[in-house]
Amino acid sequence: MKPDSAAIKKRYDRIAPYFEGLEAVMEGLFFKNWRKKLWAKVDGYHILEVGVGTGKNFDYYPADARITAIDFSQEMLKQATHKKDRKNISVELDLMDVQSLSFADNSFDTVIGSFVFCSVPLPLKGLKELYRVCKPGGQVLLLEHVVSSKPLIARVMNFINPLIVALVGANINRNTVKNIKACGFASVRVDEHSGDIIKLIEARK
Ligand SMILES: C[S@@+](CC[C@H](N)C(=O)[O-])C[C@H]1O[C@@H](n2cnc3c(N)ncnc32)[C@H](O)[C@@H]1O
Repeated sequence: MKPDSAAIKKRYDRIAPYFEGLEAVMEGLFFKNWRKKLWAKVDGYHILEVGVGTGKNFDYYPADARITAIDFSQEMLKQATHKKDRKNISVELDLMDVQSLSFADNSFDTVIGSFVFCSVPLPLKGLKELYRVCKPGGQVLLLEHVVSSKPLIARVMNFINPLIVALVGANINRNTVKNIKACGFASVRVDEHSGDIIKLIEARK
């Protein structure tokens, strides 16, 4: 499918009020534990979360950090803002596209995102932006679902991908590990507990 930011944004705007309900079962069974593992790896003071969505990571934010979080869907951000106010979370929320971040080069100690690069229209462009705004020696942490390494499952994922994109705006056949390796990081490693499809990726600049 042709990458189209406006269409993807519109899909997230549309599903924003139901997003947490739609993911509730997967969240309880799998995502919650992965989020804990992801956020346990954060270091440094100045943190950027990309594709914050409805703020599902708020519960895992470190207390002693300055956190900025962005998303390009106004309606997802609206849900995040409600949650921020309700839970009294210390975070600056900004409407921004990860493909063209307005931050200066080398700004953040950790840049982090969960389940975002499945839907970024031009993933390589977005990942290069993460590299750009990350400080030298800083890290990019991503929790992502990717295409299976098993050929038969990968074929099924590729086949049904257009339907999933049309419904929720997310691709299930991305190769985010390969993409991030193409961005110039000093090292990229995948947490050894990652499964075939869900990957916890740690890249060091
Ligand atoms: C599947 S949701 C995940 C939300 C949240 N990170 C979580 O773990 O629940 C993907 C999020 O990425 C956002 N997103 C996708 N492409 C983006 C882009 N180019 N710039 C900023 N946000 C983007 C969507 O609006 C959506 O909120």
